[in-house]
Amino acid sequence: MRRSVRGRVVLVTGASRGIGRRIAERLAKQGAILALTARSADDLNKLAADLKARGAEAEAFPGDLTNPDDRERIVSGVVARFGRLDVLMNCAGVCSFGEFATSSEEIARKVLEVNFFAPVEMIRLAAPHLTRSFETARDGWRPAIVNVASICGRWGIPSMSEHCASKHAFVSMTEALRAEFVRFGIDVLLVLPGLVRSDDLQKHLLRNDGKIHLNFAGAQPSDEVADAVVRSLLTNRAEKAVGFASWWVWFGKRMFPRGVRFFMQRKVWKYARREQGS
Ligand SMILES: NC(=O)c1ccc[n+]([C@@H]2O[C@H](COP(=O)([O-])OP(=O)(O)OC[C@H]3O[C@@H](n4cnc5c(N)ncnc54)[C@H](OP(=O)(O)O)[C@@H]3O)[C@@H](O)[C@H]2O)c1
Repeated sequence: MRRSVRGRVVLVTGASRGIGRRIAERLAKQGAILALTARSADDLNKLAADLKARGAEAEAFPGDLTNPDDRERIVSGVVARFGRLDVLMNCAGVCSFGEFATSSEEIARKVLEVNFFAPVEMIRLAAPHLTRSFETARDGWRPAIVNVASICGRWGIPSMSEHCASKHAFVSMTEALRAEFVRFGIDVLLVLPGLVRSDDLQKHLLRNDGKIHLNFAGAQPSDEVADAVVRSLLTNRAEKAVGFASWWVWFGKRMFPRGVRFFMQRKVWKYARREQGS
């Protein structure tokens, strides 16, 4: 199935920078009507103005997605402004890079709030509007929810325990809702990026003292990930591991899980040996 988003209202979370911003730019080129959300009102307003200058229809709905009132205000604001909601693109997220032994309950709860509870509650609020989008369509249109999770949601990566837990929960919720929402005509899609070179990625990490080696400089450009996310929406792809590293872990989990486990443990032995030597 191919889906056209021309004239469709798409709510993009995490649109102020990184992958979300690039998704919004690409959807605008496809003729979508963009509702943009994140906390940084200035960045969102700038993006909305930029998209409008290029002929798109776009508006900023700033808010903190961990706040129930903000979530409610954002979704009802989008429907009041554009009359409907056709696609929810859940892209907002945070990451903590550091070992569990030196982490805290506060970090675990924060990561789960942003990466799991916030998008799940956005889905709860959006679902009735997406159902209406399906029921009122005359042209076979199918509304969609696109969940940008991570390959961390398919395999636990050392030094990223909270992030992996939040993304595993999000991936499982996505799979359950994909089945449940069939009866509402809503497609629920999953995208699993690997390590991505986003805007100031390391600056926005809740912690940045993880010990496993991650090649941030060699990570996948966020433009490529945004292309893959939009392609998933347009082609209705249920699950997509984006980039070689992500695909490798995704495929390895199915074909040779002991090899992937050995690879992950080797990363930890490497830094443990380094520390013993120093
Ligand atoms: N970068 C990677 O290596 C990587 C890898 C795999 C998966 N991913 C996933 O891809 C998604 C986007 O990542 P990214 O690299 O583009 O990250 P990013 O550049 O840090 O952007 C994160 C976005 O989420 C928004 N956000 C964070 N907390 C929020 C909150 N409480 N309420 C509302 N918005 C909030 C941020 O906006 P404000 O700060 O303005 O609120 C920002 O727009 C995330 O879900 C991430 O987990 C990223």
